[in-house]
Amino acid sequence: MSDPMQDARCAPFVTLPVTLTRRLGAAMLLVALAGSFVPVAPALAKTAAPKAVLDASAVAVPDHYSADTAQQIFAAGGNAVDAAVAIAFTLAVTYPDAGNIGGGGFMTLYVDGKPYFLDYRERAPQQATRDMYLDDKGNPVPGMSLVGFRAVAVPGTVDGMWEAQRRFGKLKWKQVLAPAIRYATDGFVVEPWLQKRAEYAAKNFAGKTNFSVYFAGLKAGATFRQPELAQTLSRIASDGGREFYEGKTADLISSQMYGHGILSKTDLVQYKAVWRQPATAQWNGYQIVTAPPPSSGGVGLIQLLKMKADLKPAFTGLDLNSPGYIHLVAQIEDRVFADRQQYMGDPDSFRVPVDKLIDDAYLAQRAGEVSPDEVPGAAPVKPGLGDSMPERAETTHFSVVDKWGNAVSNTYTLNGPFGSGVVVDNAGFALNDEMDDFVTKAGTPNQFGVTGGDVNTIAPGRRPLSSMTPTILLKDGKVALVIGTPGGSRIFTSIFQVMTNLYDFNMPPADALAAMRFHHQLLPPKTIYWEPYHPVTGELADQLKGLGYTLEGQVFNGDVQLIRVDGTTPEPAADPRGAGVGRVIH
Ligand code: DON
Repeated sequence: MSDPMQDARCAPFVTLPVTLTRRLGAAMLLVALAGSFVPVAPALAKTAAPKAVLDASAVAVPDHYSADTAQQIFAAGGNAVDAAVAIAFTLAVTYPDAGNIGGGGFMTLYVDGKPYFLDYRERAPQQATRDMYLDDKGNPVPGMSLVGFRAVAVPGTVDGMWEAQRRFGKLKWKQVLAPAIRYATDGFVVEPWLQKRAEYAAKNFAGKTNFSVYFAGLKAGATFRQPELAQTLSRIASDGGREFYEGKTADLISSQMYGHGILSKTDLVQYKAVWRQPATAQWNGYQIVTAPPPSSGGVGLIQLLKMKADLKPAFTGLDLNSPGYIHLVAQIEDRVFADRQQYMGDPDSFRVPVDKLIDDAYLAQRAGEVSPDEVPGAAPVKPGLGDSMPERAETTHFSVVDKWGNAVSNTYTLNGPFGSGVVVDNAGFALNDEMDDFVTKAGTPNQFGVTGGDVNTIAPGRRPLSSMTPTILLKDGKVALVIGTPGGSRIFTSIFQVMTNLYDFNMPPADALAAMRFHHQLLPPKTIYWEPYHPVTGELADQLKGLGYTLEGQVFNGDVQLIRVDGTTPEPAADPRGAGVGRVIH
């Protein structure tokens, strides 16, 4: 068993003894301290501000430093996109286990009344091959897709932020990077949770990467400065986002990789973030705007919500998180994960049948297979569109709305805590281990326990399948909810549960976040994962076992950051499982 004291967001999901997990849960309840304020000079806006439609702007972010950044950006006249980009760069400094410039992610936006989706997911390097993580006997080499140079995929975050800010931002690029540069130069005070995560990572990477050279100073109460990162961010600020891919930063990355990894300067030069059509659906009087492939999360979320709605009669009278409720949700989840495994991958390599997968009639038929009498694991759950393949053809989340009615829902990641553990020398940032999200060998689960088929195998330039699900809900064309979370394959099941709590059980945001969450994902069969924050014990545990389930603890079940908009009032809320902050900004 892995070290249970790893308080790491993106650590593999391990079984934990109850006493330790309670301590972990308590550790996650750290209250954010007031942070130092980083001034951003007001600047001439690129365009005149439209009329305010909300009482205030608001953010829900994973640390208080990034909340301060957002406040500065809004004070300088920035909009939700400026704030989101500034938050992303700040978290690359103050939340370095997941906030990043060496990783990638997705941004769902609603700007001037229109939905957008930006895919800045990492891509496999050109030299990547399908079997690159297998030994001579065809077995996966343990840890190879997770730790060290060969785990690294081509980072997308900087180009994503550059694209988003150039297209929709109002402030100057340099202005949105200023707070991050200041935190890297002057330092920030480390909190205990970050020290814990760094200690776990240091053990994980010991003797394998240069992680500790850069991050050994993450000690609670100490001021942590990152001069190399400050220089990198300053270059990006002066020369623009492409500096990372074509300038000195690209040279530093590729020369460090040379002879060790496969990522080359050509891979960096060729990297481009992609604007895609978001996945959309009508549900419960709302329009869902969420992540399309290469995420499986948006499709999974829509499938979960619609099947649950189809099963309203079966759910009627069942209490939230009662054994009968969990039993029905687990069966819905089996079907979602069976489809994910078979059909979901990079849409630039395969024609992923999104429309069919979220079609009302298809989901009603799938929901019809769910029954209170089903015995868990008795019959294998198969993908619902037949066996045909599609044709060829440590994460963190933040939510932002501005008073003009724009919204950004952003989830980005290094995958594991501090990614591959490889820190770019003289540039000061950790590189991702996103290659582990590919299928390294058919039937072999990744660190989140999910498997896949040919549709998610490694190929040059391909994007690994993700579960990240930055989501916006609209009501009558206006933003009603901005939501997302880290958690690997737990991401869309966590968002589903919080949305259900909000809209089916009419809970206020804080209660919807605090309620118990569980997870089930087809494999291992019959397993319900519980979380340290709210362990499944006593009568509920006995009843679930009586239904045929096995219970397993896992490190955490999401760190959801949401903003609900009630009329003209934004109500931000941060998950009590983490150190996040919800802040209304006037
Ligand atoms: O893209 C994905 O689905 C994963 N790489 C996300 C990893 C994650 O959420 C880790 N955080 N707990």
